[in-house]
Amino acid sequence: MRYEQVLESANYIRSVTAQQPTLGIILGSGLGALVDVIADKTVIPYGDIPHFPQSTVLGHAGNLVIGRIGNTTVAAMQGRFHYYEGFSMDEVTYPLYVMKLLGTTGLIVTNACGGVNRSFAPGDLMLITDYISFMAPNPLIGHNDERFGPRFPDMTEAYSRRLMAKAEETASVLGFGLQKGVYALFSGPCFETAAEIRAYAALGADVVGMSTVPETIVANYLGMEVLGISCITNMATGIAEKKHSHEAVIRIANEASAKLCALVQRIAEDWV
Ligand code: HPA
Repeated sequence: MRYEQVLESANYIRSVTAQQPTLGIILGSGLGALVDVIADKTVIPYGDIPHFPQSTVLGHAGNLVIGRIGNTTVAAMQGRFHYYEGFSMDEVTYPLYVMKLLGTTGLIVTNACGGVNRSFAPGDLMLITDYISFMAPNPLIGHNDERFGPRFPDMTEAYSRRLMAKAEETASVLGFGLQKGVYALFSGPCFETAAEIRAYAALGADVVGMSTVPETIVANYLGMEVLGISCITNMATGIAEKKHSHEAVIRIANEASAKLCALVQRIAEDWV
């Protein structure tokens, strides 16, 4: 990643707002409503930020929203970049580098995913305890700039145990439970085959999805503490009785969005 470019992006954002985010938030499909709880917002279209990748999907919001949740200043991505859209892994993870230079030390990443673990049901929220990533290139391949992070970053605690405990406690205060499990990355854009799902179940996957892992890897590399929350929008291929539809994924994500927003809001409020 080119340090000078990232610095230019960060400097542009600093010229637009004096707010200094300490927490990054990435909002998954159908989960964008969280932006409504952010106070004193500065909404920066991705297109205004030098070197920032541009959203391709018409009608998809592409904004970096900087503002407050409680006493915490956050930088929330309304619209993320997926590998299946044709973005390089550098582009998919570019915003994380910018957040780092803005002063962000933590990341909450959310997504919609398919349930592989048969004890899960659509609408459940799951804390991501770990990931499996065989199906897409590593976003850190290439020259390493030590100003960002080490050549061989450790992934022992890709998802922070401290933040998982905090999320479980917060969910129980709010009156609901959370599933816990391993997120396996598929590149997409097609849904997985039934044979792939059987194979991944045997390998230890609890859910499958098409995002989140590249951002998690880079956030860890940059020294951020990461919390990952998945919304199970459907059971995976071969477990589900019906064929998949993107519309159903979005509908279930929207339905679960209130729970997820409440959870992320509470966690963000007393982040420090
Ligand atoms: N597979 C991959 N990604 C997904 C799924 C799925 O079943 N549901 C939502 N995102």
